[in-house]
Amino acid sequence: EAALIEAVEEIRELKRQKNAVILSHFYMPPELQVKHEDGGIADFVGDSLGLSVAAKNVEADYIIFCGVKFMAETAKILNPAKTVLLPSFEAGCSLAESITGADVRKLKAHYPGVPVVAYINTYAETKAEADICCTSRNAMDIAQSFEGDQLIFLPDLFMGRNLQTKIKAETGKELILWEGKCEVHEQFTPQRINGLKMMYPEAQVLVHWEVPDNTVADALTGTGGVVGSTSDIIRFVGESDNRQFILGSECDLGATLRGMYPEKEFIVPCIKCPHMKQITIPRTLQALRAIGNAEEQLFEVSLDEEIRKKALVPIERMLAFA
Ligand code: 13P
Ligand code: SF4
Repeated sequence: EAALIEAVEEIRELKRQKNAVILSHFYMPPELQVKHEDGGIADFVGDSLGLSVAAKNVEADYIIFCGVKFMAETAKILNPAKTVLLPSFEAGCSLAESITGADVRKLKAHYPGVPVVAYINTYAETKAEADICCTSRNAMDIAQSFEGDQLIFLPDLFMGRNLQTKIKAETGKELILWEGKCEVHEQFTPQRINGLKMMYPEAQVLVHWEVPDNTVADALTGTGGVVGSTSDIIRFVGESDNRQFILGSECDLGATLRGMYPEKEFIVPCIKCPHMKQITIPRTLQALRAIGNAEEQLFEVSLDEEIRKKALVPIERMLAFA
């Protein structure tokens, strides 16, 4: 405890000395989500879209990214003049790892002329081959904005199927999908959620787009709930009159929700993203201490300039979309 408090103090001081800001995702452990103005370390806390916009607008010299590698890369793509540091390069993502730029080129050769929507949970070389990016917050609107009867959506198979269910009903468009899966959200099986629904029949169910499609159908029957992005889930809880919720998403989002809505109750099967949990207070401190020293490069996110410029195009299109 005492060591943690000291580390937080040192991080706050180093941020000032080294002109750095900390961006923190909603799936970070709670101690990494406390805002600077509340005595914590985070200058901005958000979902992947919010963090991208925040990264683009950073004026400080350094961005310390408390999230996973594809998010830190996106920050670098959008704001290349800044040095972006990731406290651990073990912070991957099963979705981002599931597909390469070469895979997308093969898909495009197989489906010539079909537009490619790449989920933000991809690496730069994958984004570089896409027409537009999306996050879980704008995926539905972006997918529906394309004319034509086919669309390549990658790499999340379940999210693609969940989008397809809604899109088919409205426009009849066919989504061509990849086989990527989020190793966290794929664990929210129908059995798991249905078991909890039986124990808590009054609860509404909150599921992320990345949850299996056969879970989603069951999850939303009865007391209702929402399938959506992290922000959609947060907003839904705020607007719902219900008091009790079952969360089908990352464990620490449960802690975030409890902090935001202390009067409500959250039933959270605690499945943590092992990648997000690589980021800790001690590692964040190490990254800040490395600034200006030889170890700085161990934390630095660097991208081939050619790839960066190509990947910027679909990200900018996504940001312009809103
Ligand atoms: P959000 O876009 O909702 O922040 O999701 C990021 C993520 O990694 C989901 O698993
Ligand atoms: Fe990737 Fe899933 Fe972890 Fe999000 S929760 S970073 S999608 S593995």
